[in-house]
Amino acid sequence: MCGIIGYAGHRPAVPLAVEGLRRLEYRGYDSAGVAFVQNGELHTIRAEGKLAALEEKLATCPNTTATAAMGHTRWATHGIPAERNAHPHLSNDGTLAIIHNGIIENYQELKNDLLTLGYTVAPDAETEVLVNLTAEGRKQHASLLDAFAWALRQAHGAYAVCVMAKDEPGVLYAARLAAPLILGIGTGENFVASDIPAFLPYTRDVVFLEDGEIVRADANRWQVLRLADLSVADKRIQHIQWDMQAAQKGGFKHFMLKEIFEQPRVIADCMAGRVDEARNTVALPELDALPVPDRLHIVACGTSYHSGLWARHILESWAKVPVTVEIASEFRYRDALLGKNDMVMVISQSGETADTLAALRMARDKGVQVIGLCNVVGSSIARESSAVVYTQAGPEISVASTKAMCSQMVVLALIALSWAQRNDTLSQATRAQMLHILRALPAQLETALPMMHDTAQQLARTYAKARSFFYLGRGHCYPLALEGALKLKEISYIHAEGYASGEMKHGPIALVDPEFPTFALALDDELFPKVKSNIVEVQARRGKIIALTNPGLELSVDHSWVIPTVQGPLSAFLVLPALQLFSYEVAEYLGKDVDQPRNLAKSVTVE
Ligand code: F6R
Repeated sequence: MCGIIGYAGHRPAVPLAVEGLRRLEYRGYDSAGVAFVQNGELHTIRAEGKLAALEEKLATCPNTTATAAMGHTRWATHGIPAERNAHPHLSNDGTLAIIHNGIIENYQELKNDLLTLGYTVAPDAETEVLVNLTAEGRKQHASLLDAFAWALRQAHGAYAVCVMAKDEPGVLYAARLAAPLILGIGTGENFVASDIPAFLPYTRDVVFLEDGEIVRADANRWQVLRLADLSVADKRIQHIQWDMQAAQKGGFKHFMLKEIFEQPRVIADCMAGRVDEARNTVALPELDALPVPDRLHIVACGTSYHSGLWARHILESWAKVPVTVEIASEFRYRDALLGKNDMVMVISQSGETADTLAALRMARDKGVQVIGLCNVVGSSIARESSAVVYTQAGPEISVASTKAMCSQMVVLALIALSWAQRNDTLSQATRAQMLHILRALPAQLETALPMMHDTAQQLARTYAKARSFFYLGRGHCYPLALEGALKLKEISYIHAEGYASGEMKHGPIALVDPEFPTFALALDDELFPKVKSNIVEVQARRGKIIALTNPGLELSVDHSWVIPTVQGPLSAFLVLPALQLFSYEVAEYLGKDVDQPRNLAKSVTVE
C-alpha cells in the first residue's frame, strides 16, 4: 500500500504535494519522492525513510516555482525500502515520470519485452516497466493519453498510477485498477490522490474513479475516460462533508473499524501475484530456497500467536508437516530441542516484538533456518530471518490488531498449500477447491460485513454490561475463541477467557451463572455435535449463549448469529471479523478509547 498525490493548479506545487503526502503517510512511510517540471526539465527528488527525510532534501534544493507536481509515499512490497526503489520513477529517456500504488503481476513479461527493445529496467522495479512502456507507446501513438492507455492495457494486477511529461508541464494523467484513486476538483486547480485527506484543505468536491478509468487533468479542465476504448465516462461530482480527522479514517469512526472493513481488500492483496489461477498453483518464491521442514516450530505473541495456532491445523492436514506453536516469551527461555531439518517460523505484524525477535535469534544461533512472516517491510524480524514472506496488509494503525491477523492467515494458508504442492500431500482437486474458496472470500466478506456490523451492534447493547465472558471453540475454531477473548478484553476491559469447548467441564464451568455469558463458535463442521453438547452443558448451569453459527444448524440459544458457511478452517475468514466487530461495538458502546486502549502499545519492543 502506498499513497499518491498529483496536483495541477496555481499554487507552489511541490510543498503542496509534500503536505498531501503527510496526510497519506498512514499508507506507508518507507520512502517518499516528488516530481515536477522546472525550466523545461523533469525533476525527481526522492529519499529513503519517512517524509521528513524528503523534506530535508527539498530544503537544500533551490525553491521550485512549478505549479504542477506529483508525490508518492511508499509501503514497500517488492524491493527493499531504499532510495533507488522510491517513486517517482523516470523513463529511460527522462521524458516521463510515474508514481504507482499497486502490484503489476505480469511485470516480468513486460520487462522482458522492454529489454529486447533496448530499455534498461532495474531489478524489482515494476513501476519502471510501466513508465518505459508508456514511453515506448509514445513512439506509436499520437498523444500521451493514447500511449499511457496502450501501456496500461497490457498491465495485469492492481494500480493507482499517475504520469507527468517533460513536454506537457501542468498536465496529469492518472488511472486506476483495484487500487483507490480520487479526483479532487478545485477552482483553477485539480488533484488526484489515493485518499481524500491529501487535498481536503483545498477542495471538498470529488469524483470517485472506478476500475478501468483513466483521467487527464490540468489546472482548469478534467476528463475521465474508459481505458478500454477511451470513450468519455459520465462522472458525478460529490461534495464531501467530513472533517480532516474523519477523512483520514475514510469516514469510519475509528481506525479499528476501518481496518476491519479493509479485510476483503487485504485478502485480495495478499494473494495478488501468488496464485496462478489457470493452473491452481501457489507461488511463494521467497521460500523456494528453503526445503519443506521435517517439523515446524511457530513462535509469536498475542494475536500473531493465534494465527499460528490456527495455521497448525492446515499445515498438518494439508502439507503433513508436524507443527508446534509457542508463545515467544516462553520459547526463548526454554532449551528447545530443534532437529537439524526443523524450521522456526516467527509471525509478527510489526516485525519488532522483542520476545519474537529474541526467539528468532536463539533459533538462528542453534543453526536453524527461520521464516519470518511480517507486515512491516525492512523491520528487524524481516531483516534477520533466513527468508521473509510479507503479509502486505498495509499499515495497521489501531493498536488492536485485526487486518494483520487476516493477512497472516492468508499467507499461512498459501504456505500450507505451497508445501502440500511440493510434498504432493494434497490432491489437485482439493488444492483447487481451497484456492477457489480463498479467491471467493473478498467478495463474500464484502457482502457479509455490513450485516455483521449491524448484528454486532445489537448484541453489544445486550451484553456490554457483562463483567466476564467465555469464548468457546473446538478444533480450528479454538484459536479464534482465544482471539475473540483477547480482542474483547484489550479494548473493552471486560474480562474474557477463550477455552477449548471440551475443556470447560474440567474446571472453568464452575464459573458459569446467568451473569457470565458465553460466546460459542458453533460452525457447520464435523465437530458441531460436540460443540452443541458443550453449549447445552453451559445452558444447564443457566449460562447465556451467543452462538456464531451457520445456516441450517439446529441450536436453541439466547442469540444465534448466523454467518455464511465457508468450508473447514477457511471459515475463519468470516468468523474473525464477526468477533472483531463484536468487541469493537462493545468497547464503543462503553465509550472506551478503541484505537488506543489503556496500557498497550502497537509495537512491543521490550520484554
Ligand atoms: C492484539 C495485538 C497484540 C499483538 C502482539 C504481537 O490485538 O495487537 O497481541 O498481536 O503484541 O505483535 P506483533 O504481531 O507485532 O509481533
